[in-house]
Amino acid sequence: MSKSERAQFATRLGVLATTVGSAVGLGNIWRFPYEAGVHGGGAFMLVYIFFVLVIGIPVATAEFIIGRHTHSNVYGAFRKLHDSPFWKVSGVIGIVASLMILSFYSVVAGWTFEYILRSLQNFNGAETQEALHAQFNQFTSSWESVVWTLAFLLVNYLIIRRGVQNGIEKMSNILMPVLFVILLAFCVNSLFMPGASQGLEFLFKPDFSSITPQVLMGAMGQAFFSLSLGLGGLITYSSYFSSKTRLLGSAASMAGLDTLVAIFAGIIIFPAVFTFGESPAEGPKLVFEVLPSIFLDMKFGQVWSVLFFVLLFLASLTSTISMSEISIAYFTEERHMSRRNATLLNTAIAMLFGTLSALSFGPLRHMTVCGRGVFDLLDYLSSTILLPLGGMIISIFVGWVIKRSVIYEQLDVVSPAKARLVKVVIFCLRYVAPTCILLVFLSGLGVIRF
Ligand code: PHE
Repeated sequence: MSKSERAQFATRLGVLATTVGSAVGLGNIWRFPYEAGVHGGGAFMLVYIFFVLVIGIPVATAEFIIGRHTHSNVYGAFRKLHDSPFWKVSGVIGIVASLMILSFYSVVAGWTFEYILRSLQNFNGAETQEALHAQFNQFTSSWESVVWTLAFLLVNYLIIRRGVQNGIEKMSNILMPVLFVILLAFCVNSLFMPGASQGLEFLFKPDFSSITPQVLMGAMGQAFFSLSLGLGGLITYSSYFSSKTRLLGSAASMAGLDTLVAIFAGIIIFPAVFTFGESPAEGPKLVFEVLPSIFLDMKFGQVWSVLFFVLLFLASLTSTISMSEISIAYFTEERHMSRRNATLLNTAIAMLFGTLSALSFGPLRHMTVCGRGVFDLLDYLSSTILLPLGGMIISIFVGWVIKRSVIYEQLDVVSPAKARLVKVVIFCLRYVAPTCILLVFLSGLGVIRF
């Protein structure tokens, strides 16, 4: 497809809303609190913010540069810029990682369907934390969870079939601001809970001695996951950007808003965790067990609860749409499939692995590799390994391989101040990001100790 035939985002607000729409999702509201909870709270938060600044914003900018310069899918982008098999590997990593994430992500997105229904039934009158635990376990280990996973993927399919501009842009423009306001209201509510100070202390007071290699690996993986980085999602989206979009500004606003939403989620969850006597280190169930308690405690709780899970479902959808677009753009542009077939193939793969992931909470519980079930394994391999690896390749590629003139042109360097800023970004891409990623990997693998 030629440059002029490709769809483009219509407005600047559209660009921001869709990139934030891709970034903000279950990663912020479900994954961030549980990862922070498992990895010691404040220490995790500190490292997380550091990674967003020195790796997240530069790598997001790098993806935008590649995408808008080549107007191509992730694989084609590397092929156009440098025709060597090595760089194309990065495209393959992105496509594989996007399909892995889509599979397990849809399971959790499916849970939001169930929780919308449960909210309508007021969680069957559950009054204790134990009752909510039992409900969650019973549901996730049953076939119902598979049905919701498939239902979610079907909805995703129906939207992505329609293409870029119609579906994604319109929905994100309305949705993101509403979600933001609702989260803010929940934050205020949590600040009045008895466990508020304990919760905030857990989240914001770093205990430096608890920064372990696992915390570093977890925080780095979370930064990549939450910002939709390292798999070419932003390359794909920015291939639809117009020449007027400001790339550095868009990367920084996206990262800022995404991090703000994650912090909001932490402020909502942790005061409640301590108020209701939960453990912060519950893992993936955390949010689904704690949130209902919050709602059951609120005035008009049922209404809030329905509204929240509907929004969470929609925020997940804007994220899965962006993940799907990565492989669909590849299938259509590189493999010359019709959009219809590409969408079908994407959905079929995700349905297969999504079903296995959903079953790994129940009947397939004992099918493990290195102690991890299918869901866990897909999450670990993609977020903790493939995304940072992809991010490292992207940052080295833009920092060292592509022409400086391309970077300067894409980042629209017109003033000395802007030139200085761009130099900082290039410095991060050449040295800081690859070194940090490598060190975190080596410490995670136990090769270096500190
Ligand atoms: N960033 C999304 C979230 O936080 C997940 C995502 C990952 C989306 C990778 C696209 C690509 O929910």
